[in-house]
Formats: sequence, C-alpha cells, structure tokens
Amino acid sequence: MVPVCAVPAPCTSTARLFVHAITTIEGLSAKGDHPLQKAWIAEQVPQCGYCQSGQIMQAASLLAKNSNPTKDEVVAHMDGNLCRCMTYSRIQKAIMRAAADMRTASATGNERRPT
Ligand code: FES
Repeated sequence: MVPVCAVPAPCTSTARLFVHAITTIEGLSAKGDHPLQKAWIAEQVPQCGYCQSGQIMQAASLLAKNSNPTKDEVVAHMDGNLCRCMTYSRIQKAIMRAAADMRTASATGNERRPT
C-alpha cells in the first residue's frame, strides 16, 4: 500500500488514504491474449456483455490465488457476481479452461508475459 494524500489540505495522518494497484480488464492484456480472455472467446461466454468485465476480473483474482481450482471453488469464488443472461455454466467452463491453459503454459515454460 502506498499512502497518498487525497485532499488538497495539508496531508496529515488522518487525511491519508491507502490505495492498492488496480487492474482493469484492459490491464490483463492489451492484445486480448490473456488465457482468460482467450477462454472466454473459446467458450463463447458473453451474451449481452454487460457483466463480463467484472466476471473476468473476478476469475482473474481466483486464478492469481489458485491455479488449479475445482468446479466448486470456481462457483464459490464467483458467487455474488450476477449475470442477467445466465451465462454461469459457460463462465465456469472458461475459468476451468483458462486455469488448465495457464498450468500447461507454466509447465512448458511458455507463461504469458504482460503486454
Ligand atoms: S452476459 Fe449479459 S449480464 Fe452477463
């Protein structure tokens, strides 16, 4: 965490905010070649697309912590991120596919580098 002063007044300890680095969907890959982005396309996940950025970023947070999640772990981690188009089964398939692709890339030394 980096302490920053978010108010124009003199920065005091009570006026400080602590911020975290934030990664957006565009931050996963400028080229759209992150394994999750590729899996989303392969599994034809999006319908209207409204929820998809949030779904992918929540999936990315799971895979950053757990490279080999079970289906139950995927369901539990994604709980609460709603999709009005009901794409949940395709989201789960895409996450499992991306996790497998990431493990394979790691095992073969072909891990993706940020673009
Ligand atoms: S794809 Fe339409 S809300 Fe999720």
